Amino acid sequence: MPGRRPANSPILNRSDIAIEARGARWTTQGGVALVVVFCSLIVVSAADRSNRTETSGDHAHAGFQVLREQPFLPPDFDQQVFDNLWQVWPEPLKRRAEKASPSERRRMAFARYGLMEADDSQKKGPALGYVDDGNGGWVMNCLACHAGKVAGRVIPGLPNSHFALQTLTDDVRLTKLKQVKPLSHLDLGSFQFPLGTTNGTTNSVMFGVILGTYRDKDMNVDTGQSLPDLEHHDMDAPPFWNVKYKSQLYCDGFAPKNHRVIMQFMLLPQNGPRTLIDWEEDFRKVLAWIESVEPPEYPWEIDKELANNGELVFAKNCARCHGRYGETTEYPERCIPIETIGTDDVRLRALTIEHRRWLKEGWLSFYGKDSVKLDPQGYVAPPLRGIWASAPYLHNGSVPTLWHLLHPDERPTVWKRSENGFDKLRIGLEVDEYTKVPEKVFDSADRRQYFDTTKRGKSAVGHRFPDELTPDEKRAVLEYLKTL
Ligand code: HEC
Ligand code: HEC
Repeated sequence: MPGRRPANSPILNRSDIAIEARGARWTTQGGVALVVVFCSLIVVSAADRSNRTETSGDHAHAGFQVLREQPFLPPDFDQQVFDNLWQVWPEPLKRRAEKASPSERRRMAFARYGLMEADDSQKKGPALGYVDDGNGGWVMNCLACHAGKVAGRVIPGLPNSHFALQTLTDDVRLTKLKQVKPLSHLDLGSFQFPLGTTNGTTNSVMFGVILGTYRDKDMNVDTGQSLPDLEHHDMDAPPFWNVKYKSQLYCDGFAPKNHRVIMQFMLLPQNGPRTLIDWEEDFRKVLAWIESVEPPEYPWEIDKELANNGELVFAKNCARCHGRYGETTEYPERCIPIETIGTDDVRLRALTIEHRRWLKEGWLSFYGKDSVKLDPQGYVAPPLRGIWASAPYLHNGSVPTLWHLLHPDERPTVWKRSENGFDKLRIGLEVDEYTKVPEKVFDSADRRQYFDTTKRGKSAVGHRFPDELTPDEKRAVLEYLKTL
């Protein structure tokens, strides 16, 4: 597939190389380096689509390999740091780790940080979501947030609802100080910006804004810019298997689906415009992989008759927004005004028109050839395939099960999940519910295990559409949702 870069794009200037060298020396103002993270895309034209079907299998496979093998960023830490993280853990965890075998200690670390073991893992080296930089360094990539576990089973493309990025980064920083090792971009950035205040969710959208602030429209690095006001908030990533139905990305559908938008995570200043161009082919493959991901089937029993009734209820009450999932999938991709949907509005407002315009006028959207929405009015009703597997629900991950989604008044104020439990009655995370975070929880890593819907950006209100259903209809819809 040939590049879709406009022929006269200034990004092709030879001066890119000088700019890149400048970028390599870059640090942020105040001596604090920047954070990582994020994702984005482009609209694939009809011509590109047909092109893709011929090679899509190979392309998709190659895209997954890229994510498993290619280090795009500097490492966050090395194996020696990882193996010693337990030494900064609080008691009694630390004492337990001290007595444990190395493999048990690795399991404990994976549980604490929400890291996933790859299918082919030899139980050593980087977790899925990190790649080896060739020197034992762990380099974070997309799968850190976009490969998760449901009922104990690891699934690439499922959002990582366990990921404890802040806790991992805090522990890494302490360990490096003990080992007298240099701090990475993430260690330093997290001094200045929160990475995620509840496990399973991250401040990724603001990372994208921060990284974008230091880029002009052609992706040249310009560290002279000052940061805009930032509305930090945590997001639950959506599952990749629904990306194929969308033309626009993200919960408000503001960004086009293309391989450039998903490169936002790579916009650390050392990756100058020339490097981004060099990586385009890799990210075409990554996008092909993302679009090839299929949802897992519900592994337990389904009451077929009840589910069939539920399909009728769904057709009448939900399909106009969420689509139909029969032989073929019809998905309307409707953006619902915030007043109608009534869910937490912080994410919608946090992206300013200036940031959206930067995307629209720049390289990531092919200078606006791919559609960017400057002023989305609400959130897009997402496709619901595989919905049984992708708890928690809503864009901020505030609702732990589908039953709670269907019973808005019963949603817990505060909840805490078990590590691998699956609630087969309510469909979703197995949780303990609280009216507030228990007072005895002092440790900040422990606090991040509690989802507190009273906090800014974390409210579980809205989406009251199920109020129209009778209790029997709700039971039937819940059964039907298992089949998608
Ligand atoms: C730190 C966590 C994190 C990392 C790392 C990350 N993402 Fe994401 N991603 C998210 C979150 C959160 C969202 C939802 C953002 C929103 O809706 O505003 C998202 C959204 C997306 C979407 C849009 C999906 C949809 O249905 O609209 C795509 C595609 C995507 N990411 C791809 C990637 C790729 C490719 C990478 C690596 C280059 C990556 N992401 C790295 C957290 C992450
Ligand atoms: C008027 C449009 C509309 C109707 C009708 C509607 N929804 Fe939604 N739904 C949305 C929007 C928009 C969201 C995303 C809200 C957010 O993330 O803040 C959503 C989110 C959801 C989610 C969570 C998705 C996820 O990945 O987290 C589920 C499940 C869901 N709806 C099920 C239903 C069911 C079942 C019905 C019918 C009883 C229904 N919806 C009716 C618009 C609608």
